[in-house]
Amino acid sequence: MVESKIRALVMMIGGPYIGGAPKTERNMKQIALIGATGTIGRALAAHLEARGDEVIRLSRGSSPSIDLEDAPSVRAGLAALGRIDAVVCVAGRASFGAVPDLSDEALELGIRSKLRGQIDLVRWAPEHLRPGGAIVLTSGMLAHRPGPGTAPVSMVNAAIEAFARAAALDLSAHRVEVVCPPLIQETALAMGRSEIPAPPAADVAQTYARAIDGHTTGTTYFVPGFGPGRDA
Ligand SMILES: NC(=O)c1ccc[n+]([C@@H]2O[C@H](COP(=O)([O-])OP(=O)(O)OC[C@H]3O[C@@H](n4cnc5c(N)ncnc54)[C@H](OP(=O)(O)O)[C@@H]3O)[C@@H](O)[C@H]2O)c1
Repeated sequence: MVESKIRALVMMIGGPYIGGAPKTERNMKQIALIGATGTIGRALAAHLEARGDEVIRLSRGSSPSIDLEDAPSVRAGLAALGRIDAVVCVAGRASFGAVPDLSDEALELGIRSKLRGQIDLVRWAPEHLRPGGAIVLTSGMLAHRPGPGTAPVSMVNAAIEAFARAAALDLSAHRVEVVCPPLIQETALAMGRSEIPAPPAADVAQTYARAIDGHTTGTTYFVPGFGPGRDA
């Protein structure tokens, strides 16, 4: 009764009514970030913390440590987290190499590290996530636009997206998403390829944030202007 009078009064004088239910800030999230010390990981951690999330930084060098190439460390690292809202992976190794010269080791590295490591996260992270929580993986634009000498990493990136699309059908309480970064500016510069149009890691971080917050599942997210058709 009192509240409806206040609402009428506020509307009479032309102001917005902000009463009733308490004003809700966006809920702060607890996010485990694997690869937090990397080029994309550092920018993403900074972006998430700037908006109020708590970031648990993980990598092979963290405590607890997670090594995507060592399944027991993935299980133990996840178990040490308690209940969180998202597990995000911006880590994993994969090799380049032209097919005629491809060694077994070059072929297997990406399968064992970037692919299998992220698959294991999808298998074991759900029991540590709150309902509706998200697992966000990383693929890469070579899945869609390969070049010569990229077959091993193109394959791994495409497999990550396919696995997430299918895994999402089996996981009803949680979301599985993939971010597909293009070559980023910092890496292009480090390669001496400043002529390649590439977004800075800070822009890529915003795409990860969209994937963390989204209401989709099994979806691959692209950086705006840098999708497979360059217009995502
Ligand atoms: N940079 C690009 O232009 C680009 C483009 C497309 C896709 N990507 C993909 O994005 C991801 C991140 O790239 P980035 O350039 O940010 O990498 P980065 O700078 O090399 O950093 C890699 C991060 O992952 C951690 N890491 C490496 N191996 C690991 C393992 N076996 N287990 C757990 N953590 C591990 C590293 O920390 P420790 O060494 O302490 O473990 C580091 O924090 C990669 O999957 C990459 O393929 C990158």
